[in-house]
Amino acid sequence: MGHLKLHIPGPVEVSEKTWQAFRTPMIGHRSKDFQNLYAKIQPQLQQLLSTKRLVFLSTSSAWGIMEGAIRNLVSKKVLNCMCGAFSDKWLDVSKRCGKEAEGLTVDWGSPILPEQIDAKLATGEFDALTLVHNETSTGVLSPLKEIAALKQKYPDVMFIVDTVSSMSAMATPFDELGIDLMLAGTQKAFALPPGFAVFVCSDAAMKKAATIGDRGYYFDLLEFQSNAEKSMTPSTPSISHTYALSSKLDDFFEEGLENRYARHAKLSQMTRDWAMGHGFTLFPEAGYESQTLTCINNGAKEGGRIIDVAKLQSMMKERGYAIDGGYGKIKGTTFRLSSMGDETEETMKALYAALDDSLAKL
Ligand SMILES: Cc1ncc(COP(=O)(O)O)c(C=O)c1O
Repeated sequence: MGHLKLHIPGPVEVSEKTWQAFRTPMIGHRSKDFQNLYAKIQPQLQQLLSTKRLVFLSTSSAWGIMEGAIRNLVSKKVLNCMCGAFSDKWLDVSKRCGKEAEGLTVDWGSPILPEQIDAKLATGEFDALTLVHNETSTGVLSPLKEIAALKQKYPDVMFIVDTVSSMSAMATPFDELGIDLMLAGTQKAFALPPGFAVFVCSDAAMKKAATIGDRGYYFDLLEFQSNAEKSMTPSTPSISHTYALSSKLDDFFEEGLENRYARHAKLSQMTRDWAMGHGFTLFPEAGYESQTLTCINNGAKEGGRIIDVAKLQSMMKERGYAIDGGYGKIKGTTFRLSSMGDETEETMKALYAALDDSLAKL
């Protein structure tokens, strides 16, 4: 069987143009050529994230920075906001880093709300919090702007935000949000191969990191800062990813960021419409649906259609598509369709046609 078109929520399909950029012949990472490459993409990343801060490149998947953020920014106790597989895991990672940590838990399918965080932070126990903006496992988008507004009330708390599956698909204006660290892996809406992450830190985050003795080396924020000032990275980066990112950022600005955001909003709405039009219900609480992927109930909530998800996946495979059969504890009782990256109305309609055909024969 040939290549399956990926409609799983990451990694997503990588375009031929991106692969070509990825295959650019190698250069030295301490060369002027690399500095020029990073210096070319720095203002593009800053524009994408609406920030004047330097944006850092990490040769790791998102978890590297998620763990690094804990190691660099927590001295007292971290509040891990938990609403799905990735946000839940952050509590475990915090503890494995030897930090005091507590979870703020909501049912999967629900968002994290500002008043819940406010009540926890009001105890004065915490000097950091972690939040996953778009919980990829449940397809739930938490209200980042409203949560970030709490930073003004709790200026000494480090707001660490995973925008892994939302960054570049919707506006995540870092400076305006006033948060302290925002990160994403590149295999989601950026539609690059996995293994690379971008992130940005506030001045307060840098100052906090400087007070922490055991930051390690690979994810030391101060190393990223001093190297980025010279358009370099602390250690040898994936230069291939850097070339691919440069090409992708050109694509973003050619399309226009607002158009890009509108396209993602439209395609996720189309997918929700497709699901509901076929008797399914949606896993996320109404009003908090992701704009990059759709998490669909498989009869888990009353009134919803029930299908054999594994069979649907295998029938879709025969039609050349990879779709996801649910993640973590909702595997099988949900399935997920991604519409992030380079997808268009046309490519999504082709996916729905293949789904229609499969469902008719299920
Ligand atoms: C929201 C979110 N956070 C974190 C991660 C972890 O990313 P990685 O496995 O690339 O480190 C994922 C991966 O799917 C994710 O969706």
